Amino acid sequence: MADTKRNNPAKNEIRFFLDDEVITVKDIDPTRTILQYLREDLRYTGTKEGCAEGDCGACTVVLGELAGDDTLNLRAVNSCIQFLPTLDGKRLFTVESLSGPGGPLHPVQKAMVECHGSQCGFCTPGFVMSLFALYKSQQNPTRKDIDDALAGNLCRCTGYRPIIDAAQKMYTYQTASAKWLTHPFRHEAKPSEEEQQIIDKLKSLRRECSLEITYNGTRFFIPNSMQVLIQLAETYPDAHFLAGGTDVGLWVTKQLRELDCIIYIGNVDELKKIAVTQDHIEIGAAVTLTDAMPILLEHYPELEELFIRFASPPIRNAGTLGGNIANGSPIGDSMPALMTLGTTIVLRTARSSREVELDQFYIDYQKNDRRPGEVLERIRVPLPKPNTHIRSYKVSKRFDQDISAVCGAYCMRLEEDRVASIKISYGGLAAIPKRATICEQALLKKSWNEASVQTAMASLDRDFQPITDMRASSHYRSTIARNLLYKFYLETSGFDQNQTRVYDYGR
Ligand SMILES: Cc1cc2nc3c(=O)[nH]c(=O)nc-3n(C[C@H](O)[C@H](O)[C@H](O)COP(=O)(O)OP(=O)(O)OC[C@H]3O[C@@H](n4cnc5c(N)ncnc54)[C@H](O)[C@@H]3O)c2cc1C
Ligand code: FES
Ligand code: FES
Repeated sequence: MADTKRNNPAKNEIRFFLDDEVITVKDIDPTRTILQYLREDLRYTGTKEGCAEGDCGACTVVLGELAGDDTLNLRAVNSCIQFLPTLDGKRLFTVESLSGPGGPLHPVQKAMVECHGSQCGFCTPGFVMSLFALYKSQQNPTRKDIDDALAGNLCRCTGYRPIIDAAQKMYTYQTASAKWLTHPFRHEAKPSEEEQQIIDKLKSLRRECSLEITYNGTRFFIPNSMQVLIQLAETYPDAHFLAGGTDVGLWVTKQLRELDCIIYIGNVDELKKIAVTQDHIEIGAAVTLTDAMPILLEHYPELEELFIRFASPPIRNAGTLGGNIANGSPIGDSMPALMTLGTTIVLRTARSSREVELDQFYIDYQKNDRRPGEVLERIRVPLPKPNTHIRSYKVSKRFDQDISAVCGAYCMRLEEDRVASIKISYGGLAAIPKRATICEQALLKKSWNEASVQTAMASLDRDFQPITDMRASSHYRSTIARNLLYKFYLETSGFDQNQTRVYDYGR
């Protein structure tokens, strides 16, 4: 019986919890967003639409999901770019979940009121949900944690000071009669009774089989194992894979593309694993950026600024490292750093598996070496080697939640004062993220000093002839590329790093 269930996918019906109720949705357009469903079908209009592209945070909701060890993750995501079927098996919290009209306020809401954190109120539900996710995940957030938690929420009238005050004070309000989850829980030894109930309910929604949704010619598959995934990929070699949807969602909401076949990889447990072997960190292709960051930073703390400046928590909670790599944007932020570290990726079909150097993967603009039907299975990042200097710098117009004009990454091993090995990669200078091989050659075996670095900086013009676009001019990009290399030199030659950074880690 169980085998029959496993082999025959469930069809055209998703189930999730909204508050305490199981919602079953049938006959859905699989590229309808959670936001559209909430506002237009359920008339849950507390959640707002601002940009419809993950940038403003007005649509922030919180998703409850079981982690591998059956603990509960409550994470903010942007409902405007999440497709509805990805809710299957999860629990959705909206601003209405925290308190109904006239009802007692959740501590987060009370803090916003008391601290005057809202004026026109358009952004407020989004801020409340981001703060709710913070409230449920950290008990004593620092100012840096609060700034990061709010990096994806824009407010054009209140100003951020009162909202930050609310974030600092929300833990002090007691509103035991409010509807949901008023106790911070993540640092307690075990979940509260209320959270345990949520965990049990989520377990009851687990599927033993895959799911298939067909609607007006669009097919949407949710495989629940690697085996089913690679078979689907072989059967539908032109299908679009969907991981966190933070790129794919915008194809629909902004480019108005119609996608006729989608395979969602977010329910494949094998792709959500992280392992540290003797010489590598192995990250499954469906691991979110939020989950991949801590293990990468444990081994490469130098990359903290890069990751904290990668989009915003709601984007990092949904988006994956695998999606960033597979999407292959010339301004994708993870690839320059991963290339310099010597990262490889594993591509898998139903019949074979191959490992490719990341710096050989990209061929041309939006073209890579992934063959039809191949799934990106995992990312293999070598563990750090002794005497190696690593940095990655992102230059963009804003500190938070902005796309790079240029992103530079450097990994160098010195012997005495000579460059024994060096890898340099840039995003934003070519049609693909790319190594600066001529510049690397100019430095190899040379003394690491001002003269050789200046020569290497000049040679970058032979590696890259960047274009001018709305983000930056060609001249600006070339200048920045040279200056970032110089910054790397300064920071690895005893120069005080505080003078080369805008970000104060101590705040
Ligand atoms: C507001 C906003 C801010 C952003 N900021 C940044 C930023 O600061 N830096 C940055 O680099 N990017 C940024 N992005 C882009 C995006 O978040 C990242 O590229 C993210 O890593 C994509 O991951 P995903 O899981 O959402 O991918 P998806 O959108 O699900 O997929 C992206 C692509 O990868 C393919 N794909 C996914 N998984 C696989 C797989 N296993 N095998 C084969 N193909 C696969 C998909 O078919 C698709 O072509 C931002 C996006 C938004 C909306
Ligand atoms: S509507 Fe702006 S982030 Fe979703
Ligand atoms: S209160 Fe008006 S946009 Fe924030």
